[in-house]
Amino acid sequence: MSQVYENVSSIYERIKGSVPFCPKVALVLGSGLGDFAEMIEKKGEIPYSEIPDFPVSTVPGHKGKFVFGYVGQVPVVIMQGRVHYYEGYAMEQVVLPIRLMKLMGAQVLFVTNAAGGVNEKFQPGDFMMLTDHIAQFIPSPLIGENPPEFGPRFPDMSNAYDGKLQEHIRKIARTLNIPLQEGIYLQFTGPAYETPAEIRMAKTAGADAVGMSTACEVIAANHMGMCVCGISCISNMASGINETPLSHVEVQETADRVAPDFKKLVWHVIEQMP
Ligand code: HPA
Repeated sequence: MSQVYENVSSIYERIKGSVPFCPKVALVLGSGLGDFAEMIEKKGEIPYSEIPDFPVSTVPGHKGKFVFGYVGQVPVVIMQGRVHYYEGYAMEQVVLPIRLMKLMGAQVLFVTNAAGGVNEKFQPGDFMMLTDHIAQFIPSPLIGENPPEFGPRFPDMSNAYDGKLQEHIRKIARTLNIPLQEGIYLQFTGPAYETPAEIRMAKTAGADAVGMSTACEVIAANHMGMCVCGISCISNMASGINETPLSHVEVQETADRVAPDFKKLVWHVIEQMP
């Protein structure tokens, strides 16, 4: 057994008594969606602090627990709070919760986050469905001995965000009359926001939005053969796109302002998940 698989599966063995069902969807909540978990019919929760050897977030506003419950008829495990590479955790630790949710049985990973808009057609408060990502500015979570129990050494990433799920999200947004942008998410390490020159580079590279999470989780999920979809809340325009200096306060304020629509969209996407 590979060391990585052994670590994750031994954590799973210790918590599986508190996992109330086999979840279909694993949902990662980003800024603004934090209280989505209050909307669901809750069946249980596990605070990260009660899980031995589990990475715990140090960022204000990021609570840390798994919440289990039903969105309509769909059993879901929710990560209320994630850890970021910039907090000092190794990439293997950052994606450990994703691997754990796969061991719980989740087949679909739904990622959400707050991101800076690079595409000038975007506005703060917009939602952007992820169609692809750029992750070559961060270390891959798959560097090191490959855990074959999870997936192959060289996983295919050509459909990192599932085409059918993208079509499903488009349809739900249309039905709810919620405008939906689409684009490519680029993950930087953070924690400093980018310089205007870095954002020009991101734009040249083809990015529509930038952030400090998510792509690494999506790599780990694809490695394990999960179907992935994701939506960013564009919380601010990225550095240099307009005059405003960036602040975490602005990021949180915008995310909070559009949270009701964000929650509605995510709820219906999961409730009617094909
Ligand atoms: N840059 C990086 N990460 C972010 C941003 C940004 O502008 N906004 C929210 N997360």
